[in-house]
Amino acid sequence: MAVEIESPLTIALSKGRIFKDTLPLLKHAGIEPLDDPETSRKLILDTTHPSVKFVLIRATDVPTYVQWGAADIGVAGKDVLMEHGGEGLYEPLDLKIAKCRMMVAGHADADIGARRLRIATKYVNTARAFFAARGQQVEVIKLYGSMELAPLVGLSEVIVDLVESGNTLKANGLVPLEHMHDISSRLVVNKASWKMKHATVHALVDALRDAVGRH
Ligand code: PRP
Repeated sequence: MAVEIESPLTIALSKGRIFKDTLPLLKHAGIEPLDDPETSRKLILDTTHPSVKFVLIRATDVPTYVQWGAADIGVAGKDVLMEHGGEGLYEPLDLKIAKCRMMVAGHADADIGARRLRIATKYVNTARAFFAARGQQVEVIKLYGSMELAPLVGLSEVIVDLVESGNTLKANGLVPLEHMHDISSRLVVNKASWKMKHATVHALVDALRDAVGRH
């Protein structure tokens, strides 16, 4: 189901799992990269479609590039989108890839309902919103990675992090305490591109929706 591309399109992707899992879906739409990002150091990749380019950026930067129109379209995890806030973006399609859960986790005896519960996470906005919604006052400490360490050394009582197999928690003697959100990767579209490149963007969204249904 090759898509008819009438306008030039820039698609923002992040290396690793999202790129790997998005490729078969884009291939279904007739779009394939000409370079392998695992071996090439290029940040802009040409594709089999002369007017479609991929830009390779950090996962957390994808919503920003798309919001500002530096990319028309992007693929980002729901975790990243919730934290970004989604301003300037449409989110027309759940690609149902890179699935995991956002959880509160900690030692099995942690009191998750404690007053001024201390939470370490890179998802500070999402964590604040989650606890504020039930009227619980919390202290949120921003980290950039390895959240599992925080309860082990007393930096925080709990963490908010992504859990897939649960192996990282288990290996560090922690347990999931509460499910917050189901996570998967979403297609996001710049709001101006959605209007100005209507035919092309809609054709691509339709082709990707079809591909998601087949996978
Ligand atoms: C994620 C997440 C957990 C781990 C969960 O980290 O932050 O640490 O995966 O996976 P599991 O439940 O299957 O063990 P990732 O490896 O993506 O690196 P990051 O800390 O840089 O996000």
